[in-house]
Parts: sequence; C-alpha cells; structure tokens
Amino acid sequence: MFHTPLRLPLPALLLPLLLIHPLGCSAGPDSAALYSTDTDTGDALLPLEECGYTPATDLDPAAGIVEVNLAAAAFEWDPGTGVALTEGVAYDDSVPGPLIEANAGDTVVVHFTNNLNEPTTVHWHGIRLESAMDGGMQMMDPILPGETFDYTFTVPDAGFYWYHPHLEGAKLIERGLYGRMIVHAPDEIAADCDLPIALDDILLDEGSWQVAPVDTDMMKLMGRLGNMLLANGKAGRRVALTAGETVLLRLVNPSNARYWDVYVEGQQLQVVATDGGWLPEPYATDSLVIAPGERYTVAFTATGDPESEVRLMNKRFQLHEQDGDMIEVDPLGDGDNPVLTFVLGEGTVVGTPWTQPAVDPMPYTGPTETFGHHWILAEDMMGGTVTIDGAAWPDVPLVTVEANLETTFDVENTSEMHHPFHIHGNNFQIVQINGVAPTTPQGWKDTWDVPPRSTVTVVSDLWNAGDWMYHCHILEHAEGGMMGELVVGASTHSM
Ligand code: C2O
Ligand code: CU
Ligand code: CU
Repeated sequence: MFHTPLRLPLPALLLPLLLIHPLGCSAGPDSAALYSTDTDTGDALLPLEECGYTPATDLDPAAGIVEVNLAAAAFEWDPGTGVALTEGVAYDDSVPGPLIEANAGDTVVVHFTNNLNEPTTVHWHGIRLESAMDGGMQMMDPILPGETFDYTFTVPDAGFYWYHPHLEGAKLIERGLYGRMIVHAPDEIAADCDLPIALDDILLDEGSWQVAPVDTDMMKLMGRLGNMLLANGKAGRRVALTAGETVLLRLVNPSNARYWDVYVEGQQLQVVATDGGWLPEPYATDSLVIAPGERYTVAFTATGDPESEVRLMNKRFQLHEQDGDMIEVDPLGDGDNPVLTFVLGEGTVVGTPWTQPAVDPMPYTGPTETFGHHWILAEDMMGGTVTIDGAAWPDVPLVTVEANLETTFDVENTSEMHHPFHIHGNNFQIVQINGVAPTTPQGWKDTWDVPPRSTVTVVSDLWNAGDWMYHCHILEHAEGGMMGELVVGASTHSM
C-alpha cells in the first residue's frame, strides 16, 4: 500500500474558488509594455545581430573530445525590460548558458562548479548517457555550494539538446539556469543561418519587473505561464537575414509550463529534426507546437522584400480543455505575440539548398509484443495534487523493464490538461495517439505531449540500461510529484 501525500493542501473551503480562478495574474494590462523594443512604443531597438551562434570554448584541441568549464551562479540579467533581475541565475553569466557543440560520438567533459547557494545537479536532457552522469537526483548526490563535479559522457546521437538543474527547476530554470547543446551529424550541411533558440517565457511583476513569486497553489496545479516571451534570454531580438538564405531554427522550450505554437510570418517551414535527431524525411507546416522540454528544428528559405521585417511569432496555446473546470487566462492575452524579428537586408542571394542528413527510417510501425508499462497521469483536484499511477514522487511505484528489448509503453492522461511527458536516458518513437498512427514523419523523442483524456503509445529499443527519472516537464508538476523512476535492466542502486 502506498499513500498519496497531500503535497499541495488546499482548505476545502477554497476549492470552489480554485475551480473558477483564472490562471496567472489577472489579465495582463498592456502586453506591449512588456516589450521595451516594441516599435509601437518608440523605445530604442536592440542592435541587429548576425545570424549564428558562438559555442563554448573547447579546452581540449583533440578531435573527439569536447572539454568545457561550466559554473552556475547568481547573475543579474535583463530580459528586455531595462531592469536587471536581482534574483537571476545563470550558467557562466549568460542566459541561456554556453552552447556546447559536439559531433556525434564525441566525449564531452564538463568541469562543473556550483557557485549557487544551494545544492544542484546538471541534467543533460535527451542525451543517452550513463545514468551516473545524468544529473537525475536519484543517481547522484547533489553538488553542494562551492563544490565541483566532472561530468564525462559520450554523445551518441546527433540532435539538439539542453541542460538544466534537476533540483528546484521551477525556480531556477525560470530565473535563467539552462543552456543548449548541439550534436552534429557527420553529413550535416551548414545552413546560411543556423540559429539555436531557447524559447522561454518568464513571469515578471509588472512594476518592479522582478521575478514574480512562484509558490502559489494555483500555479503548482496549473503551471506557471509567463507574461514575457524570450528568445535566448531576451525579448525584442533582431537578427539580420538576406532573402534567399537557408535558415535553420533549432528550437527548444525551457518554459515552466508554456506550450509554444510558433510560426514565421510569410515563411513555409519544413520540420527537419526533433528531440533525438534528424527526421527520415522533412514535412511542411505553417506552425509548430513545442511542449516544455521538446525540441524541433525547422528549415526555411527566407523570402521578403529588402528591408522588410519577418517576425517569429507565438500563438496562444490552450493548456486546459476549453470547457473544463479550470478557466485558463494567458497573461499574454489571446492574440499572437512577437518573439524575434528577422530584418532582411538588400538584394537576394542564392542560398545553400537544404539537404536532409541521412538517417535510417523509423523502425516501428505499431506496438511491439513486449509491453513495458501503462502510466496514468491524473490530477487530484480535491487534494490539489498531480499524480502518476495514483501517487506522487517519491511514492510513485518503481517501473522495471529489461534492457535491449523492443518495448511498448502507454502514457494515459485522464486529466483535462496537457502534460509533456519526458523520460531520461532512452529514445522513443510515437507509434499511436489514441490508437491511431501519427500522420507526420516521426523521429526519436524523449519528450512528448499527452493531450487531455488521451493515450500516447511509444516504443523504445531500451538501448541504454540504467535508472532513469521520468516526469511531466511542466516544472511545477514535476516538483509537485508528477515524477517517477524507470529502471532499465538490473537496478544499480538501492532505494
Ligand atoms: Cu529536462 Cu528530467 O528533465
Ligand atoms: Cu531530461
Ligand atoms: Cu503535467
């Protein structure tokens, strides 16, 4: 028998209020005011940036080894309001942290220093590494303030990844503690513009422009939506482009709870990669939903008149069923909001045509004979908790499966809101959503949306034995107990 701890106790009297209480702050007054660079406000624009990125300095010149220093510390940074966050945090004084760049098969060595005033771990989201290096809190002792730890692991799969703490994520990731990682395939072509973007939102107190308090029961249940959209830690970025250029946008969503739904004005996007690497074939889309923790890479050939502006936009995504018990108010309002502006220069160039790197077709056409587990994600409104298999971490029953067997898992969401489900350490292929095969080309996933009252069926080869955390990537949910442990192969530690 396990019990369900009441992690978010709410007096019964408050419940009727809770069920009709809107999410977040009472409707944002003037969201344009949050964009100090909005052309309508007449404020100064941010300088025009070149397209591209600067990777972290590789301390080891040898091929096949990427060696970097990394430190987490308090860092005051300005998300674009003109006011620095006094409670900001960052890796290496930069939001996002340094971009770690490697080639598939490389060994990555990270000399990490914890200069925070609290224990931490670094989790390498999506990498199939050894579980002792994964930063999941069941497998390593947290690194204490002032201490160092060397993370050493191989990066087997080309893809776009990210890293973040696995303790106090809802607080620290919101305040800036996350970074990006690119692992290149050997045959990857260089796009004319290769732009890795962390699509984050942040909830600021409108007045002080400081991080709004996070610990309301409402946000713990519904997730924390921000009132400002950031591309690589800043609102209002402007990036130079020329018509005809091939653009590759590598997108990761480190937001606490926001599902992004993005498009680029006037551009036809090709989805070319997802969490665990390049797709077997691209597919066209006008817009793309990216759940917290997920990654997608899109390609497009820039079109537009000289000196025109083409904006990366975000559409409102409804996290809760429209006619459910909870009324969801997005502090950004119901309209579309700008995220970043591409400014086209003079003339037109003949861009490098996009060529999809070669990958094997996805192996699974449906569920396999070996069945691993059927998870049930639920919300217990009366207890104010979110649960997996009827319990909250650390009481969620352990799931144990064998390594190297093609295994099917069901993730069933009985609640009325979306949950982005994430499993550490292995890659998965979505084979069915509510019993129906997806219609777009599929790739390897470590994080996927489970829509309200739906079941997503995935298959994995469980190539990577170890002890792995799995959880909802709405950070308030993960910390509220929507988290468990999956042992692949023999357990290497005792609970
Ligand atoms: Cu980004 Cu445990 O995850
Ligand atoms: Cu992860
Ligand atoms: Cu959730």
